Amino acid sequence: MELSRLKGTYDIAPKEADFFNWIETTVQGVFTRFGYKKVVFPVIEYATLFARGAGESSDIVVKKEMYQFEDQGHRMIALRPEGTASAVRLYLENGLSMQGYSARLFYTGPMFRAEKPQAGRYRQFVQFGAEMIGDPNPYADVELLMLNNTLFSELGLKNYTLYINSIGCKECRPKYTEALKAYFQPKLSDMCPDCRARFDTNVLRILDCKENQCRAIIEGAPTGLESLCEPCSDHFHQVQEGLKSAGISYSIDPRLVRGLDYYNRTVFEFKSGALGSQSTFSAGGRYDYLVKEFGGMETPAAGFAMGMERLAMVIEAENGKKREEYNRAPEVYIAFIGGEHRAFALSALEKIRKAGLTAVTEFRYDSLKKHLKSADAMKAKHCLFIGGDEIAKGVFTLRNLADGSQKEGPLEELIEGLK
Ligand code: HAM
Repeated sequence: MELSRLKGTYDIAPKEADFFNWIETTVQGVFTRFGYKKVVFPVIEYATLFARGAGESSDIVVKKEMYQFEDQGHRMIALRPEGTASAVRLYLENGLSMQGYSARLFYTGPMFRAEKPQAGRYRQFVQFGAEMIGDPNPYADVELLMLNNTLFSELGLKNYTLYINSIGCKECRPKYTEALKAYFQPKLSDMCPDCRARFDTNVLRILDCKENQCRAIIEGAPTGLESLCEPCSDHFHQVQEGLKSAGISYSIDPRLVRGLDYYNRTVFEFKSGALGSQSTFSAGGRYDYLVKEFGGMETPAAGFAMGMERLAMVIEAENGKKREEYNRAPEVYIAFIGGEHRAFALSALEKIRKAGLTAVTEFRYDSLKKHLKSADAMKAKHCLFIGGDEIAKGVFTLRNLADGSQKEGPLEELIEGLK
């Protein structure tokens, strides 16, 4: 049916709104306390920005996951598949390298990838991303991981695992890729077509293959940590020391590589058993070459992004509470009796809202029965009754709809009591 939503997309219905609102508010609060500034960049960019950013052996390019189209001006445009390339472009175009301190940028918003939809994998999904551009120190990597941990703890999460690895630098990686090539070469005929292509473009990416026929072979592949040069090895060592001193537990996964080509040194993923096969809900790493590749000065950088939908699934599983249960019912429902009191009801709504409380009514009704039915359907916490007598005397009744108890008094006093 052409009027239904597209495969791989979803809606957030009103009953889920407060749940997602809470997640986003918590995320923004933590990012802000870590000194990150929220930036906004377009959903559409030149397709080459992402192709060059993600790299020619990334899934985004190899698996043609980018939604692209030619616009009326014959420009090749893409819907952003990720935020790092845009963040680096924003950094360069806004001269942030001149500000005298590292840029700490965060963003939230939809990303688009033409992937095969499954549980936890969408074609349009929301990422919360953070990019720290300018600080090469291993403690900057640690701080990014700490940010994740702080956020997860505020969202009530405990049962997840942080996996880290170092994939080296331009100096030491060739040694490792040679070892991988020597290992995979004689086994290529037993591997999937994607891996055969990756063998030539970026053999490291083979380690990320999820195909069963390849997994068994990958298990026996040499790991890269022994091939790290001294500076990379030191960096990785200090990241681990930093994590230990911050009390952040982690596991080293020497075969952890990422689906995007721009990474070097530290890479990491947070995984949860609650998620099934799409178990990674936050991931990132260092990308010290990207700013220069985009025409800037040599500038170290690191960052991560988490998928909001997967984060939501982990929160639900861990907190044992469904997303609908986060729904916040209105504090006050106003039941005005008699259509002539509609205007008075409107001014009472305004007073309650000014006090910071949620207040609603149904303007179409003016009978007590209908109002009470609406208040009940909305699960409103209180009902304020407004009729001719109440207005004349200046004394109103506020009923607690959960236990039926009632309070009487001037409007201001009742509102004060609710606060
Ligand atoms: P990524 O691993 O491609 O990295 O995506 C990060 C997170 O976005 C994933 O761990 C997952 O939670 C979520 N995600 C990705 N694809 C989907 C999908 N199809 N459906 C639902 N969720 C998805 C990046 O995007 C990098 N830009 C992260 C980064 C920032 N690295 C450095 N800075």
